[in-house]
Amino acid sequence: MCGIIGYIGDRDGLEILKYGLKAVEYRGYDSVGYYDGRLVKDVGKVDDFLKKVKDVKVPFIAHTRWATHGKVSAENAHPHKVGKIALVHNGTIENYKALKEKLPYEWKSETDTEVIAALLDYYNEEDFLKTLEKVLPMLKGTYALAIIREGDPRIYFAKKDTPLLLGIGEGENFVASDLVAFLPYTNRYIRLEDGEYGYIERDKYVIKGRENIRPQTFEGDIKAAFKGEFPTFMLKEIHEQLDIVPQVLSVDVSEVREIFQTQEIDIIAAGTSYHAAWYLRYLTGFNVHPYVASEYPYLMREPKWVFAISQSGETIDTIKAVKQAKQKGAKVISLTNYVSSTLAALSDYVVPLNAGIEIGVAATKTFLAQLLFAHNLIGDKDIKGMKEAVRRGLEAPLFELTKPKIFFLGRGINYVLAMEGALKFKELTYVPAEAFPAGEMKHGPLSLFDKDTDVVFFLGPQGRELAKVNMEEVRARGANVHEVIFPDKYYELSATVFLQRLAHEHAVRWGKDPDKPRHLAKSVTVE
Ligand code: G6P
Repeated sequence: MCGIIGYIGDRDGLEILKYGLKAVEYRGYDSVGYYDGRLVKDVGKVDDFLKKVKDVKVPFIAHTRWATHGKVSAENAHPHKVGKIALVHNGTIENYKALKEKLPYEWKSETDTEVIAALLDYYNEEDFLKTLEKVLPMLKGTYALAIIREGDPRIYFAKKDTPLLLGIGEGENFVASDLVAFLPYTNRYIRLEDGEYGYIERDKYVIKGRENIRPQTFEGDIKAAFKGEFPTFMLKEIHEQLDIVPQVLSVDVSEVREIFQTQEIDIIAAGTSYHAAWYLRYLTGFNVHPYVASEYPYLMREPKWVFAISQSGETIDTIKAVKQAKQKGAKVISLTNYVSSTLAALSDYVVPLNAGIEIGVAATKTFLAQLLFAHNLIGDKDIKGMKEAVRRGLEAPLFELTKPKIFFLGRGINYVLAMEGALKFKELTYVPAEAFPAGEMKHGPLSLFDKDTDVVFFLGPQGRELAKVNMEEVRARGANVHEVIFPDKYYELSATVFLQRLAHEHAVRWGKDPDKPRHLAKSVTVE
């Protein structure tokens, strides 16, 4: 949930810091900082912070934070420096209080991170790899770490359960939580495995216990990591949905199709990906059971197959649920935009989402791609028809929501749209918006409806006649009903694009940044 970037090489440190921090800002954005021999950190947005930075020495490590332990404050921002050790951390350390009690330090922050710096300082040995070997097993929890030790020209790193990559250049190396942090400089990278640690120098990288490492090469389009003429990444990505239809449908799903047709499968996913799981269920009628990833451990029985949907492939809830299912003997299929992700590595079958890089925190084109996967699975590859539906969603005029209570309703597969519509709306505008199956209203929620209520009603073909009856019921209670009307052919795809634009438009109108909704992050690597 935090972004890390570290650099060693001959380029201008300020340039790399600026680019790298902006690139990983989507991972967390309540505070920011760097260490280049000087410790500089503050609360607030990366842009405001960067305005004050005049020069940055190399090597440096830097961080954007999404608070877990300790409030948003300059003291709690990263890097943390204790003695000779400065470090940045993504993850959570469960036993940090117990560790703190044993160490003779005065604590400057409320974070779980500071104790890691203290441990490394306390056990600091000439050969720092030995220090890491000793200290890392003491940490209970998850971490991606980039570390600078005073008087030592290297950047050290360590990783467990949260993503960390090395970017391998010519006469320069990077360590970062995401490829996009160094892609303009090098497209060669190594995705670190859990438990690995080591260091980078200008011309060298060492990963303890791994020899003859061949970096992978990223072949995708890096232009996707820039906004271009669009005011926000989210709007750019909403518009890109027109172009991704053919590439997403070109993925060969024949092998997994057979599994879906013949097996009972638990689907595990979080957030928007969870909604895609329900879409798959409604659309295909296959014997699949969607579960919220963080709840799955309490509900799991003896699954033979699980299907994990995660655009990032790094959502910790999904990864943990998959690991537990594997322990019970389940086989794993995953659908992810990152085939080199942690989730992909855990899976027996990996289906690439093929949606291209998505930067906006709110999933848009990756959601549409997940829906298209469901169509692909049932052999529906009408590229032209789907593109037309997306275009209709892009061009339809929006309506305005003004009431204090907002509901998104639908029946059948339209209920999936309602769930996604409400999620997008609330996460971007911070206005409470709830989704219900239209037929369920009379069992409680209907008492909330009056003239202070806006209702967004999805009226696609499935269940339409009954949905109209429910619509009249809420109208009769004084609610202001907005019907989402599109032609029946791929109604759901048009409505998906529409609901994304609806949330984006209201966020912008109400002065919120759609790319960085408060308290949220794109890839959630803490529980
Ligand atoms: C976060 C993001 C959501 C996303 C969810 C699951 O909460 O803000 O947009 O749907 O994680 O992410 P995943 O990468 O697993 O699909």
